[in-house]
Amino acid sequence: MSSTMQRITLARRPSGQPVPEDFALQSAPIPSPGEGEVLIAVSHLSLDPYMRGRMDDVKSYAPSVGIGETMTGQGVGRVIASKADGFAEGDLVTGITGWASHAVLPGSELRKLPDGLQPSLALGVLGMPGFTAWVGLRKYADLKAGETLAVAAATGPVGSMVGQIAKAAGLRTIAIAGGDEKTKLATNHFGFDAAIDHRAHADARALRAALVEQAPDGVDVYWENVGGKVLEAVLPLMNVHGRIPLCGTISWYSGLDGDGTDRLPMLWRSVLVKRLRISGLIVFDHWDLFDEFLADIGPKVMAGKIAYLEDVAQGLEAAPEAFIGMLQGKNRGKQVVAI
Ligand SMILES: NC(=O)c1ccc[n+]([C@@H]2O[C@H](COP(=O)([O-])OP(=O)(O)OC[C@H]3O[C@@H](n4cnc5c(N)ncnc54)[C@H](OP(=O)(O)O)[C@@H]3O)[C@@H](O)[C@H]2O)c1
Repeated sequence: MSSTMQRITLARRPSGQPVPEDFALQSAPIPSPGEGEVLIAVSHLSLDPYMRGRMDDVKSYAPSVGIGETMTGQGVGRVIASKADGFAEGDLVTGITGWASHAVLPGSELRKLPDGLQPSLALGVLGMPGFTAWVGLRKYADLKAGETLAVAAATGPVGSMVGQIAKAAGLRTIAIAGGDEKTKLATNHFGFDAAIDHRAHADARALRAALVEQAPDGVDVYWENVGGKVLEAVLPLMNVHGRIPLCGTISWYSGLDGDGTDRLPMLWRSVLVKRLRISGLIVFDHWDLFDEFLADIGPKVMAGKIAYLEDVAQGLEAAPEAFIGMLQGKNRGKQVVAI
């Protein structure tokens, strides 16, 4: 076994959209596990939009990554040495390994995975993003058959799960996605009733007109993944007592995307007049329900009743480009890196 590992660190804080020079690939000696710890050879790394926020030095619900520190992230891998009770060499585990080929973590921060599981599934459809959709709908969407739901980033791991659960609950589901290939994926692979290409509509007004055609009775649940133009298009279409689980605002993660107009009065007035329920959602508040999620969704994934899609970049060194691409919508489904 090689005695060195590779990791990707934050070289500098991005200005706007991240670029490859914001990251650095480094070698380091493989650390040894101390008492209660486990050494893992990471096979798959998850790339998620939240990592963009961790690259900035701002106060948030989780600490930012320091300059020179390993980029944060969830990985899956095999235990290669263990000094923690309950973990043995060869076990398949997941935890916050960071962007690295190897990681030492306390056993208490790891979750064992079933041996036969395709490892990357624990990062997407059966991991944090799938769970976010499942728990957010359950807690904040109050789904009712016959209603209409709209979601953007609809072919990603969160949006595609939102669409499938809502459809199974009897709602009309509208996907908003970037490009022709993704709108086809949304309807053909993920079963949305309709799909709209947000990139084909220059502004919120044009996008809204396309939405009106697909949602003639208005929108009852808008699952918020992106903010920006999509939010502005959907908001006036919300029905009275509509619900908005606020999960993400990716169009703003690298700085404001807009023309400088203050839309806060429009937003606030809509909330009042339509009596909207907007609920901020951070998945970490709900881990107590994760086993329930797995028991519900796991068998459906294994039986092919829940569709998923993965975009697998090859090699740790490919992680920065894949991450930058995902923020720009180049990913097709859950973005992972095979290390
Ligand atoms: N609150 C939480 O606890 C929590 C947990 C997990 C995820 N999230 C959030 O959920 C959202 C989706 O996450 P995911 O992992 O499923 O990501 P994802 O869909 O795999 O990837 C992000 C997608 O966002 C879309 N996008 C990027 N810029 C956009 C823009 N300006 N306008 C519209 N769409 C844009 C792109 O899809 P298109 O090409 O289709 O536009 C891109 O593929 C993100 O906002 C993420 O931060 C929140």
